[in-house]
Amino acid sequence: MNASSPSPAQNRATTTATLYGGVTNRRVTVRDLAAAKQRGEKWSMLTAYDALTAGVFDEAGTPVLLVGDSAGNCHLGYETTVPVTMDQMVMLAAAVVRGTERAMIVADLPFGSYQESPAQAMRNAARLMKEAGVGAVKLEGGERSARSIELLVEAGVPVMAHIGLTPQSVHAFGGYPVQGRGDEAAHQLLRDAKAVQQAGAFAVVLEAVPAELARQVTEQLAVPTVGIGAGADCDAQVLVWTDFAGMTAGRVPKFVKQYANLRAVLGDAARASAVAGRGGARPARDPPSPSPPPPGGPAPGGARTPVTAA
Ligand code: KIV
Repeated sequence: MNASSPSPAQNRATTTATLYGGVTNRRVTVRDLAAAKQRGEKWSMLTAYDALTAGVFDEAGTPVLLVGDSAGNCHLGYETTVPVTMDQMVMLAAAVVRGTERAMIVADLPFGSYQESPAQAMRNAARLMKEAGVGAVKLEGGERSARSIELLVEAGVPVMAHIGLTPQSVHAFGGYPVQGRGDEAAHQLLRDAKAVQQAGAFAVVLEAVPAELARQVTEQLAVPTVGIGAGADCDAQVLVWTDFAGMTAGRVPKFVKQYANLRAVLGDAARASAVAGRGGARPARDPPSPSPPPPGGPAPGGARTPVTAA
């Protein structure tokens, strides 16, 4: 933490006492995340690619939502994150912002939108902030991305860094191998983590890194680490929503805990509706139950044309 960082007392005055699921009428900020690290509170980040699911995660109290370029393979039907464009990211991120009220929304700068130069990174980060309304951007790379991070932070853009396995480099890696194995690779990972912190990143994603190395990085950094396939000792964990909710069609990484099986639930619902349709049934609801409306009215992004049983 540098000299200008708020003291724990200042943090208490201006940040939430509990990050995860804390009740507040404003969005989570980088100061809240810094304060959570200081008091040792862990938190979770989920990916989101649309207003509907983002609204569900926001209502559940998830403090940070990532509009990841994993949208490429989890939402848009590509094989990797590489084809994702800035226009697509702006559209998805804007939807996630519209569907939420309190989560901090972080959006990925996709492949090819920042590697050319810090000026290119700034131009595209500004699009995500101005056109989509996100609170922060994420980009991949350690030492190699430090100059861009520095420029963005100087310009007022909060940056989440992403090191270890960086999926935009899938073709250079020849797949998705674990990173940081062996002394030299471990030292490089530590150098990368320190370089992005020094450049001003407010948090660092550690992807596919041995748990012990992730623990050491977490201990040595003043900013929060966000692990994915990096053991249990990071300050936060991030999960791709389609993986943890059981929507992913193919193989899911071994470290993912699956909390639901939405693919089966939706498939069953679609099959039931198809059977009813083939039988000539008119799509109609069961008779309405007398449940009262939810407190505070419909959820953000949840308004829809009421279905009236005729
Ligand atoms: O794009 C993404 O979803 C990510 C997470 C896997 C960290 O970068």
